Amino acid sequence: HAQGNAAAGKEKSEPCAGCHGEDGNSNAPIFPKLAGQHASYLAKQLHEFKTEKRVNPTMTAMAEPLSDEDIDDIAAFYAQQKITVEKAEAPNALGEAIYRTGNASSGVPACTGCHGPDGSGIPSARFPALRGQYAAYLEKTLNDFKSGERANDANSIMRAIAAKLSDEEIAAVSSYTSGL
Ligand code: HEM
Ligand code: HEM
Repeated sequence: HAQGNAAAGKEKSEPCAGCHGEDGNSNAPIFPKLAGQHASYLAKQLHEFKTEKRVNPTMTAMAEPLSDEDIDDIAAFYAQQKITVEKAEAPNALGEAIYRTGNASSGVPACTGCHGPDGSGIPSARFPALRGQYAAYLEKTLNDFKSGERANDANSIMRAIAAKLSDEEIAAVSSYTSGL
């Protein structure tokens, strides 16, 4: 993929601002923050909304008119913005334990292996950053992986993990990760 042009991407992201905010710090917890997310991951998601590999009718409609160049430019713009990290809620021992060590008894791996100790992800592998993301969105998307409604993860990595998480663990790890 070509390196996007962030200045062009800023212009092209105007139709997105109503939900994702002018700077990618979205306007409501149901709209994921895009600020500071890796361009490689953002571009993957936009291509997959476009081809309906990731199912969300609103986002498919938004992604449909975008060319490959538009996608690279928009991804470059959001990647350069700074995410506003949510304040950590009450100390969350369960969420911290899942994030850092997983759950040996149910076979859940540590999230740190792919999403990093500080939640910043691994751009070259397209492992997304999670830090500062709205807890409500994290919880919704983990539930979507668990139910199979979101099925665009390569090799079913996240579906396999989410299937082993209880509802309580999903809520706890979402809240913890949001505050990283
Ligand atoms: C998700 C980009 C416009 C609502 C996403 C994601 C990206 C994105 C990259 C995935 C984020 C992630 O996986 O962490 C864009 C761009 C837009 C745009 C580039 C403009 C061209 C909009 C608008 C709305 C919207 C106008 C609201 C009407 C949503 C929602 C999701 C989402 C609800 C989450 C979908 C889900 O739960 O799977 N968007 N967006 N977006 N966007 Fe947009
Ligand atoms: C995506 C959480 C462990 C690889 C995601 C997303 C969440 C998440 C919430 C969606 C991000 C978004 O939509 O913006 C977690 C949690 C984990 C965990 C809570 C531990 C319990 C792992 C591990 C790996 C991994 C161990 C690698 C082996 C990925 C990948 C994606 C992803 C590749 C992107 C999928 C795509 O392209 O749509 N994870 N994760 N995760 N995670 Fe994890």
